[in-house]
Parts: sequence; structure tokens; C-alpha cells
Amino acid sequence: MSETKEVIRVQQIRKTYEMGKTKVHALQGVDFNVQRGEMVAIMGASGSGKSTLMNIIGGLDYPTSGSYFLDDIEVNKLTKNQLADIRNQKIGFVFQGFNLLARTSALENTELPLLYDRSKRVKKHSEAARQSLERVGLGDRVDHFPNELSGGQQQRVAIARALVTNPSLVLADEPTGNLDSKTTVEVMALFQELNEEGVTILLVTHEDEVARYAKRIVELRDGKIIKDVPQTPDSAAKDLEELLLRRSEEQGAKEPETAQAD
Ligand SMILES: Nc1ncnc2c1ncn2[C@@H]1O[C@H](COP(=O)(O)OP(=O)(O)OP(=O)(O)O)[C@@H](O)[C@H]1O
Ligand SMILES: [Mg+2]
Repeated sequence: MSETKEVIRVQQIRKTYEMGKTKVHALQGVDFNVQRGEMVAIMGASGSGKSTLMNIIGGLDYPTSGSYFLDDIEVNKLTKNQLADIRNQKIGFVFQGFNLLARTSALENTELPLLYDRSKRVKKHSEAARQSLERVGLGDRVDHFPNELSGGQQQRVAIARALVTNPSLVLADEPTGNLDSKTTVEVMALFQELNEEGVTILLVTHEDEVARYAKRIVELRDGKIIKDVPQTPDSAAKDLEELLLRRSEEQGAKEPETAQAD
């Protein structure tokens, strides 16, 4: 891994989609840097350009103009194959819909990015995948298929898959969009824990409830950054603890009835 402190440097990025005669200016001159070890939330209304920016940062799409450096590599100058390698080796992706293969175990899903890693840095795929699943607290679920896991567990498998290549950067587009509030806090607690271990995380959310766990908030409007502020993040682990305590108290309050019924 490169020693540079800056993981992402985006300079005057523009993205224009041509739709017949009309043009959609999805990004209109975005400047944006992320240092190693940051946890940044990108916010903004629907259509403000969040996914467009994430797709460019993730090497899934090219900007119309401007430049983008990932670990000091100018991404928009790479060929398609070089880009695929960079994407595979330096970036871990987490999506709203988990994107796990249905007829494939948690372990095999987690191994997947290693299959495509042409550098062959990691030799023992299943061992690396197992370690990655342990890291997200799923060491006892390696043989489960996605439909044998809860939503939060499925998203944790997706996070394990994102981490298995030991990437410079984890990108998550609405990672809690399909989760209930308790599971959302659980997943955010995991992201915070990974961030404390040094993983750089960039996530998109439109929920203040999620963004408050990030160390910095960037807000887009009409393809421009209108706000970029550091914040002291709330602790998701603490919130989760309180949430679970409240639930067990609620259940405890109901328990005498069932005890009497017995
Ligand atoms: N492939 C595309 N072709 C044409 N226009 C597009 C394309 N992708 C996005 N757009 C347009 O670019 C703008 C930004 O879209 P983008 O998906 O980045 O928004 P977003 O902030 O992620 O929104 P949401 O919160 O709804 O996911 C929108 O006006 C959208 O209609
Ligand atoms: Mg989007």
C-alpha cells in the first residue's frame, strides 16, 4: 500500500450526461480530497450527484472533465484493464442492496474479489475470506447462504467482501438504505470500528441519523459541493447499547405476564 496520506484527490470534476438533445450536468466542478483514515458522509437531495461522484471515485465511470487521483495514481488516464485492476485491488464496494450471489455461501461471496485479483497477492483465498468474516463478527456464519442470514448479516458479508483485498478505500452507497433502524446502528458501529482500525470510508446517505456517525460531512446540491464540514461523530456502539438495553427493558416489563401464564 502507498504511504501517501491522501487517498482521494478530485479536481474540478464535471460529469455531463447527453440525453439526445438535452444535457444533464450531474457534476459541475467538484473539488474534494480524502485523507487516509477519514470517515466521510456524502449527503444531498435525490439527483444532487452523489452516486455519480461515487461511481467516478470507484472507477466505475469516467468524468467528462477534471482529474481524479487515487493513491497518487491518475485514474482517468488508465486503460480499462488498468482501471479494473485498481478497482479490484484498492477499492472495496458496499451497496444498498448487498449484491450477494444467492446460491453462494457467505465464505464464497467474500472470496469473490480475490478470484479477480490478477496480482494474486493473496494466496489462500478461503482463509482470507474467513478472517474477513470474523472481522465483521460472522465467523459462525461462513457456510450460510444469503437467504439464511438477516439483512444486517447480509450487509456484513458485503462489508467482509469489501475488506478481503485489504483496500485503501471502502465506498458505500446508501449501505443502510434497506435496513431497519437497529440494524442501521449495528452496521454503522461496524463501520466506525473498522475506521478506528484505519480503514478509510466514504459513504453516501441522505439520512442525518446515519451521517452523524461520520467524522466529516460533504453536501452536494445540483452537482456542486455546498458544504464540507468536520464533526465529532456520535458513537454508534453506545447508541446500539442503549437501544438494546431499552428493548430488553421493554421485554422485561412484559415478562411477568408470561411467567404467570406458565
Ligand atoms: N446514466 C445516466 N444518464 C443520464 N443521466 C443520469 C445518469 N445517471 C444519473 N443521471 C442524472 O444525473 C443526476 C445525478 O444523479 P445521481 O444518480 O448522481 O444522483 P444521487 O444524488 O445519487 O440521487 P439519489 O439520492 O436519488 O440516489 C440526476 O439528475 C440524474 O437524473
Ligand atoms: Mg444515488
